[in-house]
Parts: sequence; structure tokens; C-alpha cells
Amino acid sequence: MPKSVRDILTKKGTTKISVITAYDYITALLCDKAGVDILLVGDSAGMVMLGYQSTIPVTMEQMCIFTDAVSRGRQNAMVVADMPFMSYQASQAQAIENAGRLIKSGADAVKLEGGREVSETVRSIVEVGIPVMGHIGLQPQTTVLQEGYKVQAKTKDSALKLIDAAKSLEEAGAFSIALEMVTQEVAKIITESINIPTIGIGSGLDCDGQVLVFHDVVGLYDKLKPKFVKRYLELSQQIVKAVEAYRSDVVSGKFPAKEHSFSIDKSELERLKKEIA
Ligand code: KIV
Repeated sequence: MPKSVRDILTKKGTTKISVITAYDYITALLCDKAGVDILLVGDSAGMVMLGYQSTIPVTMEQMCIFTDAVSRGRQNAMVVADMPFMSYQASQAQAIENAGRLIKSGADAVKLEGGREVSETVRSIVEVGIPVMGHIGLQPQTTVLQEGYKVQAKTKDSALKLIDAAKSLEEAGAFSIALEMVTQEVAKIITESINIPTIGIGSGLDCDGQVLVFHDVVGLYDKLKPKFVKRYLELSQQIVKAVEAYRSDVVSGKFPAKEHSFSIDKSELERLKKEIA
């Protein structure tokens, strides 16, 4: 049975919440097997799966396909799907409709970026029965366009704005909030000042949970190497080595060997050869 919003909420203050991105069936299957609490179908898929420079071009259609695949690979983890850029900003009706599309594609909840300015949108999605995870701090869909990849909440005023954003999302009914690249001290203050879990990415140890991009964890994506990423594997190097060995076996005739091939019975082969001759 997949984890519910209640399961995630009750972890606050007791057990840390583990979140990792997944965009396809097999990754979802493996990460679910590893026991993570939440599979995040992040719009980072645009960069690591589709090769875009940012998350901006990602469409609802693409997010629905990724979400559908992930939902079929999981058994126990909750699936949270990102609402891509311009899928919720135009109106509350647009936001509800697109959140609904992600739920119909297999998500258990949706995530969208923004603080107080999106709190009424969050409220309207929650009111139709769709759980929402907020996302504040560095917001790849907007902050990055304005300021680039910059650590957030480094001054008193920006910290106060972020604390207010977190409170407004909680009031609007969000069940958790992702904090991206927020100074660890401010992430701790936010975590202690709200009753819903915070999920940190580059925001220190005091958040209620942590999220990382799968491709960063296993060393599959080299274009960006943020300081907050911990790599547990160097998979891209291993993949290149394996494919080089395969290519070399093909060229040298080492592959396929006998054990990789199928045979026709000797007598059938003789009859065949006779007939052809
Ligand atoms: O899209 C994503 O992967 C995310 C995480 C960085 C939180 O939103």
C-alpha cells in the first residue's frame, strides 16, 4: 500500500523522510525497493531526461508520461509530481485542472513552486482533494531566471520572507514543503516554526527530510555538480566502460558467444541444406 499524506505527516519530529526523484518505471521500481518514502517526479526531468538547459520548457504532457511510468513502478512509496512552469500560474482553474491530470496519471500529490503568491492556488487545489507539496527557496522555474543558482535566505529580510512563505503554504493546506538551497540556520527555523514536514535539498540536516535528484545520487549527470549533492556511485563511468567493452566484443567477434546463440537440430539443418542445394 503506498504511503499516505498522514504517514508522511506523522514522521515530523520522529523519523526523517527520504525522497528521491524518479522519472521512469525501472528507476521507480528500484528506488521503491530501496525503501524511500517519496518518489518525486520532478520537472528536473527536463534537464536529466530530455536534455533541456532548464526546467522551463517542460510540458504537462511530458510530466504526465513520466508520472504514469513512475506510478507503475512503485508499490510502497508516495508519488509526488511536479507541476511544470506555466501549468498553474494563469488561473486557479488552470491549476486545478492540471493538478487533476497529474493525479489521473498516477500521482498521489503534486508539487508547485512559490510562497505567499501561490498560497491561494495551493488552497484551491487542496480544496478539491489533491494533496500539495510546496517548494520555496531556490525556485528553478523563476528564481534561477532572475538570480541564477544562488543560496537563499542569507539576509534577515530574505529569511523573514521565506518564513512567511512557509507559514502561508501551511495555512493554505500544503502537507509538506521542499526547501531548496536555503541556509541551514534558516531551514532549521522554518522547520521548527511549522507543523508540516520540510524536505531539504541543499538546506542542511535540520529539515524533516531530504530530497536529491536520482541522477546525482548515482553519478549519471555531470553537467551540474552542486555542493549539496552526495554521490553514492559513479554510474556514468561504469556505463561507458561496459558499452566500450560491448563495442569492442562486437568488433572483434567475441560477442555473441555460443551461450548467447540458438541452434537448429543437426538433422533439420542437413535437410535444409539438401533442399537449398
Ligand atoms: O524537480 C526537481 O527535481 C525538484 C527537486 C530539486 C526538489 O523539484
